[in-house]
Amino acid sequence: MSVKLPLENLRREAEMRLSKERFAHTLRVEAEAVRLAALHGLSAEDTELLRAAALLHDITKELSAEDHLKLCKKWDILLDCESLSCPQILHQFSGAGSAAREFAMPETVCSAIRTHTTGGMEMDTVARILYLADLVEPGRSIASDPYICEVRFLAERDLCKACLVQMRREIRRLRDMGRGVHPLTVAACAAMEEEYNSRA
Ligand SMILES: [Fe+2]
Ligand SMILES: [Fe+2]
Repeated sequence: MSVKLPLENLRREAEMRLSKERFAHTLRVEAEAVRLAALHGLSAEDTELLRAAALLHDITKELSAEDHLKLCKKWDILLDCESLSCPQILHQFSGAGSAAREFAMPETVCSAIRTHTTGGMEMDTVARILYLADLVEPGRSIASDPYICEVRFLAERDLCKACLVQMRREIRRLRDMGRGVHPLTVAACAAMEEEYNSRA
């Protein structure tokens, strides 16, 4: 059954809650997600879910770490030690909570938001496109990411390979910097690798 999502309301809500710059990023992610969805033959229903996920993916990003924790507690979202020690990813959990509890979004939308920075074990097509659209939207440039052209090229052709290349690169980047890698990213990368190898 197809449910019409209130995309215009979500867009308005994102505009009210986010800075001008982040709202502009949100709109570019939505547009990029729609472009990739068309290239990969997503159904109209999945494209609508993807647009909702794009509009809400950073909805809590400008909150303080303390506020993320308050929201996660309020919505019974359990955070592991690795997530608690990584403030820049907390918004994927509080954002997924907001999508579920404030906007009554379906699980496909919440799950895509929940994995949009770290990746996750079971990423469906909506989650993969959101993950990639967030990285390659036109506001991201070679200056901020020298490898962006490769991921952009792959995102248009092969979602699994694009996610795999990006996740491997992210793991390498964090390890080179002497930083820990979130277990969700390690698990997501291993799952993508297995899927990719099983196709060969
Ligand atoms: Fe984000
Ligand atoms: Fe984002």
